[in-house]
Amino acid sequence: MKKISRRSFLAAAAVSAAALALTACGGSASTASSAAASSVAASSEAASTSTAAELTTVEAGKLTMATNATFPPYEMTTDAGTIEGIDVDTAQAIAEKLGLELQIDDMDFDAALLSVQQGKADIAMAGITVTDERMAVMSFSDSYATGIQSVIVPEGSDIASVDDLAGKKIGTQRGTTGYLYCSDDFGEDAVVAYDNGLTAVQALNNGQVDAVVIDNEPAKAYVESNPGLKILDTSYAEEDYAIGMNKSNTALLEAVNAALEELKADGTLQAIVDKYIKAE
Ligand code: ARG
Repeated sequence: MKKISRRSFLAAAAVSAAALALTACGGSASTASSAAASSVAASSEAASTSTAAELTTVEAGKLTMATNATFPPYEMTTDAGTIEGIDVDTAQAIAEKLGLELQIDDMDFDAALLSVQQGKADIAMAGITVTDERMAVMSFSDSYATGIQSVIVPEGSDIASVDDLAGKKIGTQRGTTGYLYCSDDFGEDAVVAYDNGLTAVQALNNGQVDAVVIDNEPAKAYVESNPGLKILDTSYAEEDYAIGMNKSNTALLEAVNAALEELKADGTLQAIVDKYIKAE
């Protein structure tokens, strides 16, 4: 499990402002830290309806995000080993509004879903589709993006539409809606569940499966880096992505929704999307 910590810019700015103020009036080091702490709470109150002090999180002062960083451009691991993407930047912006420090825990996708249910992470952000089954076991924020289940096939494949998947071997990522839809529609025996989308695509390259069903944006990224593959024009399903949380933490749900609303209204969310998804 990879852990990456990012300091909340808002909190850092408030701390240094408070430290400066105290330097100016000659405060001691010990009063400096408590003044800084209350200043953090005050500035996050201004930025959002909820303050860090009111929020209960897995680790005090932190917003712990469970993800599966094999899903470009929502979350991916760079060659240098850092995790970036739309979900990461959005979570960082939310953490700043809440006056919390973002901490990212990278794990398998199904583990990320479980992590919030078991109270090990505050938010699960991994291009997660809202489904009735998931809503029964966790709460979801307002949606922040839409996804489409796409079908990847080798160029020259006789699969031209979703219906043509009948009788074929389909690769998916374990625990995803792609897996669920395909096993419902074509039977569990027809579907192979891989650890992540990339291994599913590698299996397609090796001829172990006939198609891969996965969300459209990672599909584009995988096809781009794997010549000889293409995405079918017809899509399988349209979905809403949202942030998963533990059902019991309603204060966090409200704070996250308030932060999301601000990020949508002031264009931050769109700017994050534009940074990672270039217009075609
Ligand atoms: N949207 C799909 C789902 O919720 C797939 C998400 C996979 N995300 C990931 N980070 N691997 O099931």
